[in-house]
Amino acid sequence: MIQLKEKRYLTGDRPTGPLHLGHYVGSLKNRVDLQNDGCEGFIIIADYQVVTDRFETDDVEVNIYELVKDYISVGIDPKKTPIFVQSQIPELAELTMVLSMLVTVPQLERNPTVKEEAKAMGVAKKMSAGMFVYPVSQAADILLLKPDFVPVGEDQAPHIELTRDVANRFNKTFGEVFPIPKIVLSENPRLLGLDGNQKMSKSRGNAINLSDDAKTVEKKLKKAVTDSKGKVAYDPKGQPEVSNLLTMMAIATGRSEKDLAKDFKGKGYGVLKAEVADALNAFLDPIRKKRAKVTDAEVKKILKDGNKKVREIAKKTMEDVRKAMKFKYSI
Ligand code: TRP
Repeated sequence: MIQLKEKRYLTGDRPTGPLHLGHYVGSLKNRVDLQNDGCEGFIIIADYQVVTDRFETDDVEVNIYELVKDYISVGIDPKKTPIFVQSQIPELAELTMVLSMLVTVPQLERNPTVKEEAKAMGVAKKMSAGMFVYPVSQAADILLLKPDFVPVGEDQAPHIELTRDVANRFNKTFGEVFPIPKIVLSENPRLLGLDGNQKMSKSRGNAINLSDDAKTVEKKLKKAVTDSKGKVAYDPKGQPEVSNLLTMMAIATGRSEKDLAKDFKGKGYGVLKAEVADALNAFLDPIRKKRAKVTDAEVKKILKDGNKKVREIAKKTMEDVRKAMKFKYSI
């Protein structure tokens, strides 16, 4: 295990919709903890990645603003953890071009995450070249900032492996430019969707969003899928949906699922759902309050500052890259 304190990291999200409780346990909480450990974090909002699997871009700008509000509301401080937008950093396109020379087609063809995404979108046989190479663009997102580590969920691991590989190959081919970033996988369990689906996700509409109001949370909980056993227990294999409700309550209260399950001895699912809703609302309330105070003008300033800071680093990295490649001409 590497010592993460005071190190630099880069991570990010696609601006495809509001962040939810699954993001909170899977990544956001960790980012706040790293910030408190004095890490120099950078968060990329990967807007170009949105068009890997859809062409509707009408919502992208709104989603970027909402994403920044999500970050701020859970305690990310952009002064300590700058936030920037992929499309605003032209050096990323340049670095992607360079790195793509160091990756083979078979290597990209093996990427299980891209395969899965293509299958889910029904484009496995007619994938765009952009979707095929986006892991290279993600490698550029990362390497541009020369971070020590990249905290991500398991699905992103193939992309970080590729990043490490391509950085090594660059260093061996042209000279040492890139530190090899470590992968730091989030250890938190994935939340199931409220519909019982394997994953709480933006696109399935089965999530508790950090920006949901109290009434919406209550409504969503009322509709949450359970089972016909009628007895509250923490048994993720035998009663996954009910256990998932307990996990949500554990996130909201800081108590353990097993301990919470004891409180519901002899009580039905209706009571459980109502109490989970209350606990979630108590947990989300300060987050909502913080969010309500963030104005669009502030978000704009946050992103301007983040982009500026990143471009300064980006220019230096591209200088190093061109120098190593002997592409520094006197013309
Ligand atoms: N692929 C990531 C996702 O879908 C988003 C992302 C883009 C990212 N660039 C990154 C994550 C760099 C970590 C590092 O969530």
